[in-house]
Amino acid sequence: MMARASRIRATGSLAALLLAAAGPAPIAVPVSVPMAAQGCLGCHGPAGQGSGAVPPLAGRPASEIVVALREYQAGQRPATIMDRIARGYTEAEIAAAAAYFAAR
Ligand code: HEC
Repeated sequence: MMARASRIRATGSLAALLLAAAGPAPIAVPVSVPMAAQGCLGCHGPAGQGSGAVPPLAGRPASEIVVALREYQAGQRPATIMDRIARGYTEAEIAAAAAYFAAR
């Protein structure tokens, strides 16, 4: 975990940084979850089911998730926090996270 945490870029997701700073992750993350998707689980739920103001991601088409993240990065989609989070992810990381949630 520490070796992985130290590789998180300064622009990585806020949640990932908070998890790294807090030590052991408060939720059990299965090893099969791609690194890029792990930063989403704290808010979108361990199964991507969402809760309250955080929309569900599980089962949504990967293309829809990718488009949403690109729009957040470009500031073209209304956001309270996702615009800042999306900017911390590369295209490849977004694709990996989108594929993970689409398969839930
Ligand atoms: C800090 C909490 C938080 C984290 C971390 C987070 N999200 Fe979000 N997400 C939100 C909130 C809140 C919204 C609603 C839009 C807003 O207020 O910014 C949202 C919206 C979205 C949407 C749009 C859904 C819709 O119905 O329009 C997608 C797609 C999404 N997030 C994907 C992700 C992915 C992929 C990750 C990980 C790379 C991630 N989110 C990480 C809180 C978070």
